[in-house]
Amino acid sequence: MNSYIEKVDFFKGNDPEAIAKEYGTPVYVCSEEIIRKHMHDVSQVIIKYPYTANYSVKANTNIHILKLALEEGLNCDAMSVGEIKMLEAAGFPYDRIFFIPNNVSDEEMQYAIERGIMTSLDSLSQLKQFGELNRGGKCAVRINPGVGAGHCEKVVTGGKKTKFGIAEEDIPEIFEICKEYDLTIAGINQHIGSGFMTPDPYLQAVDNLLRIALQFKDLEFIDFGGGYGIPYHKLEDDEADYPMEDFKKRLEPILDYFVDSYGKAPLFKSEPGRYCVAEGVVLLGRVHAVKQNAGHAYAGCDIGMNVLVRPSMYDSWHDVEVLRAGKVVSRDSLETITLCGNICESGDLLAKDRKLPKIEKGDLVALLDAGAYGWSMCSTYNSRPRPAEVMVMKDGSVKLIRRRETYEDLMRLF
Ligand SMILES: Cc1ncc(COP(=O)(O)O)c(C=O)c1O
Repeated sequence: MNSYIEKVDFFKGNDPEAIAKEYGTPVYVCSEEIIRKHMHDVSQVIIKYPYTANYSVKANTNIHILKLALEEGLNCDAMSVGEIKMLEAAGFPYDRIFFIPNNVSDEEMQYAIERGIMTSLDSLSQLKQFGELNRGGKCAVRINPGVGAGHCEKVVTGGKKTKFGIAEEDIPEIFEICKEYDLTIAGINQHIGSGFMTPDPYLQAVDNLLRIALQFKDLEFIDFGGGYGIPYHKLEDDEADYPMEDFKKRLEPILDYFVDSYGKAPLFKSEPGRYCVAEGVVLLGRVHAVKQNAGHAYAGCDIGMNVLVRPSMYDSWHDVEVLRAGKVVSRDSLETITLCGNICESGDLLAKDRKLPKIEKGDLVALLDAGAYGWSMCSTYNSRPRPAEVMVMKDGSVKLIRRRETYEDLMRLF
């Protein structure tokens, strides 16, 4: 593919150069249309049985994006009180929030309990803590399914070597704790990891969780987790989309078999984050320097690892498009160059030894698929204020959805 931006008309006729000038760079540019489409897709994963998709807000907590999830009929997962507060601000009622924290304090747990927010406990110790705080209450438990998958080891959350969930062999202790504190287990959940491109590991984990579910009586819901990947290598390798239709087809008989054995269909849930938002956001940065260092070409831009940490944290790949005077530079002629940021770290690299069109000082670079774990993982490292976010609306207008942080914002805490 020569250009994803052009293929999907990402800016809807707006000049990216004008957006960059008006809002400054770096700037996260979101597409209402693409985000809504992906949110709609995940809401249709299960049709035959009661189902809700919970958008996993850690991927992107911008309140305007949460409002899109609300309008698309999604529920949400929150990992922290901060995320619950974002959801409150977006207008989510408490019965559409599922709190799935790990290792939280009494105060955080109490915040959810007081609001009647369904909470999943991810260890026996946290289940006891919940029992102390809410004797006679209802909750869920997160099971570690013993299998995991993901785009890199750091995002695999299921399996023997991760900190998450309660192992299957500890299930009898769940029942003992429930007896001691008169707790009801309303649901079980799992999450095997993030960013897999074939349905096989997820389907295997669904099958496994449903086998485990048979040990629990009268479950109100079973949550299979998120993790559906998106094609980060779309530009250079024409990577295909996650095979959603094939996945749905293969999921249904597994659910049929379970419903038959369990005697009823509880509410099924999933927890996709990345799939909802990643492809609907492009990160624009300005190139401020080009240089050769010991025979290697570098282009230095204002997207530091504080703005997009995924490449340095996970070795993640983001396709890059080069824009000059608002137009995508053709990929007909390419050269090898490393695109880096403006942070004082040798690991501050966005794209290493990448084949890109010739980059000139003053160009814009567009990092694709930046909507998940982009802004939400930003920091102010090197005392750089965090960037603005804008949204290209369905009608083509451009709306500021989070202003750029200022130096005054950085000083305010002192
Ligand atoms: C418990 C849980 N659920 C859902 C998600 C969302 O994963 P993804 O964004 O890959 O869909 C995560 C991501 O880390 C998670 O930890």
